[in-house]
Amino acid sequence: MRKTSDIIWQDAQHQVLFEILDQIRQPGAGRHVLYQLREYTETHFSLEECYMEKLRYPGRDAHIRAHDLFRQEIEQLLENEAEQDTQFMDVISTFLTEWLTRHVFGIDKQLELFILESGAA
Ligand SMILES: [Fe+2]
Ligand SMILES: [Fe+2]
Repeated sequence: MRKTSDIIWQDAQHQVLFEILDQIRQPGAGRHVLYQLREYTETHFSLEECYMEKLRYPGRDAHIRAHDLFRQEIEQLLENEAEQDTQFMDVISTFLTEWLTRHVFGIDKQLELFILESGAA
């Protein structure tokens, strides 16, 4: 359940990312879902980074480095031309979902509090 102190755009975008990661593991999901993941990840990360820059968030370097790692994971997936079977995509989906969960409840939460305290939400 959403708390009144949550930032709506951040919450909604995380939800979309988790939904795309879930689609990846569905049988028959093609590469287009990976492209969708890359595009939406960029939309979301760029917006968080924009807030971090604008508010001169002290933790922005470490946070951007974490985003860059996730970006690299997706690029590596897309570079792999081999046929990606359902089992492989299931492992990938689980890995990325766990990563994102830790990120969302970890450093994203700290950023959220900082944005809320700054009054810029
Ligand atoms: Fe986020
Ligand atoms: Fe983030």
